[in-house]
Amino acid sequence: MPTQPKPILLGVNVDHVATIRQARGVSYPDPVHAALQAEMAGADGITMHLREDRRHIQDEDIDRFAACTQTKLNFEMAATAEMLEIALRVKPMDVCIVPEKREELTTEGGLDVAGNANALTTMCGELADNDIRVSLFIDPSEAQIDATAKAGAAFIELHTGSYAEARTAAGQQKELTKLANAAAYAVSLGIKVNAGHGLTRYNVVPIARIPQIHELNIGHSLIADAMFCGLPQAVQQMRRLMLEARQHTSS
Ligand code: PXP
Repeated sequence: MPTQPKPILLGVNVDHVATIRQARGVSYPDPVHAALQAEMAGADGITMHLREDRRHIQDEDIDRFAACTQTKLNFEMAATAEMLEIALRVKPMDVCIVPEKREELTTEGGLDVAGNANALTTMCGELADNDIRVSLFIDPSEAQIDATAKAGAAFIELHTGSYAEARTAAGQQKELTKLANAAAYAVSLGIKVNAGHGLTRYNVVPIARIPQIHELNIGHSLIADAMFCGLPQAVQQMRRLMLEARQHTSS
């Protein structure tokens, strides 16, 4: 009997709802409202990135959503003492640790896990001791996966930015192969695999077909699509594409 492919989950990142709010310093649109709407439309979880400079999500958004989520909060954060303290207070189901630079427009590359092994190992341990699942956002490299295994994180999130930015079919295929190999390698070490960054309804299908991927975290393109068709429809369409793609993989 053929085995059923594992389902693939959609985490919706609502940071850019807060970006629009912060552009005017008003109270709308509310990222928590968006998060609840995304949950009702079928999102499996919500990501909020509390950046050090608080450019979009604010501390009270995290508190308000953590108090009412029906799915789960994936709290995205830099590896700083301030963010660790917030994570330990809020106790989200998931934490995704990302590199953060003030001058960047968005998270530009993966973490250098090997280069920050001591700090990340301590942080992963403290979060895991508080029943928080930790993922490290990394580029698809075996060295970073090996370092993640040593640091003790249960998950990686593979950075799909280079795949999303590839301008030729050959370039995209090369990046896809790197992501697929990295996903298989991580799973062989017992690490679960998420992925995200730059995914859209036009490029998500080949990524969703990688059978080891557990969850995709998607933000900017979903919020952009929501301007034209509404957030529930944008979420439903993305989820449908992902699930249909997964039906065509063998695990
Ligand atoms: N995953 C991580 C770790 C990210 O930093 C981001 C961007 O905030 C995303 C996923 C979502 O990327 P995008 O907004 O391009 O969909």
